[in-house]
Amino acid sequence: MNVGVPKESRPGERRVALVPEVVRRVAAKGIAVAAEPGAGREAHLSDADYEDAGATVTADAVWDTEIVAKVRAPSEDEMERLRPGGVLIGFLAPLTAPDTIRALASAGVTAFAMEAVPRVTRAQSIDALSSQATVAGYRAALIAAEELGRFFPMLTTAAGTVPPAKVLILGAGVAGLQAIATTRRLGAAVTGFDVRAAVREQVESLGATFLDLELETDAEGEGGYARELDEEARRRQQAALAEAMTGFDAVITTALVPGKPAPVLVTAETVGNMKSGSVIVDLAGEAGGNCELSEPGQTVVREGVTIAAPLDLPSTMPEHASQLYARNVAALLDLLLKDGDLKLDFEDEVIAGACVTREGEIVHAGARQAAGVA
Ligand code: NAI
Repeated sequence: MNVGVPKESRPGERRVALVPEVVRRVAAKGIAVAAEPGAGREAHLSDADYEDAGATVTADAVWDTEIVAKVRAPSEDEMERLRPGGVLIGFLAPLTAPDTIRALASAGVTAFAMEAVPRVTRAQSIDALSSQATVAGYRAALIAAEELGRFFPMLTTAAGTVPPAKVLILGAGVAGLQAIATTRRLGAAVTGFDVRAAVREQVESLGATFLDLELETDAEGEGGYARELDEEARRRQQAALAEAMTGFDAVITTALVPGKPAPVLVTAETVGNMKSGSVIVDLAGEAGGNCELSEPGQTVVREGVTIAAPLDLPSTMPEHASQLYARNVAALLDLLLKDGDLKLDFEDEVIAGACVTREGEIVHAGARQAAGVA
């Protein structure tokens, strides 16, 4: 059994799918790892580190392996190098990149999308969306602190006392909870909000206050995710937030319903009502943004408010993002392999849930719908 680790080709992508620490663990189970020269360079991991961990560093053999482990979906050129009948692991965007999924089916690979791993207790160690959202939530807190022209913590100085910054986190999933924890550590007075009522306890356990918008809606959906709000509930939420947000110095938005455009929580009018100098960090840029005035990938100033909508935040911390991702991949490999051989048990809900293409077909329900397959 062998696993190939290509160098990521997408511009700006600095992560790598397996790091030497994990290569060592995989190799100890008798699995040969082939890494492309420079695979870990952007994450400050040298070819020598890979060789020391037991990998072969080779340009040719990487794609000619039984399993290819990637971070991002293969490019068009890379698609042609995939081995029919082989296994591919990566972030494959099954709900939003139908062309990629169709191409993977045509290539005849068995593809596992890290986004499709069910969020069930026994798959927590494989949950790469969570590990990468942890990085994004942490970075969002730092960006907010960096952009705000005020201190986060309360300071008592000879020149008098400075009150702490007031920070609001909208959406308290994985990224949001990490943003709460990090802004708290930086000393801000933090408030959190989510449409799932069950999250209140988690927000409070981190020492933040839960924002009560008195909407009387609990939008808990399937699998611990939120469901999309209807038009009326969305309008009421926007109106309640328009009022509540005026008192905050920094707002970090992380609201998401999987596979849907990001809900607009902050309208242009609300931005206009915020204090001049305040900051919004919108993590949902890739799905359109939680703020109406966000420009994905840009930092803009509107009505005196700085609005940052950074993309690819995990790549800004490639060492730890790669390390956590590699551990997720290794945990998936543990599930796919038995005694060192591929043994795909499609009765297993985690294996079946994560698989998007198999034997030339798209097998994931959401991906089939996105690709227009009946
Ligand atoms: P998650 O699914 O764990 O959390 C999203 C939260 O939003 C859930 O708690 C959900 O209940 C809440 N939510 C949904 N609709 C809402 C509404 N109308 N009002 C308030 N809350 C609402 O997702 P996760 O993993 O924390 O990711 C959060 C966001 O961060 C996503 O948009 C994701 O794409 C993004 N992200 C961005 C990165 C970047 O580099 N910019 C990197 C990683 C994640």
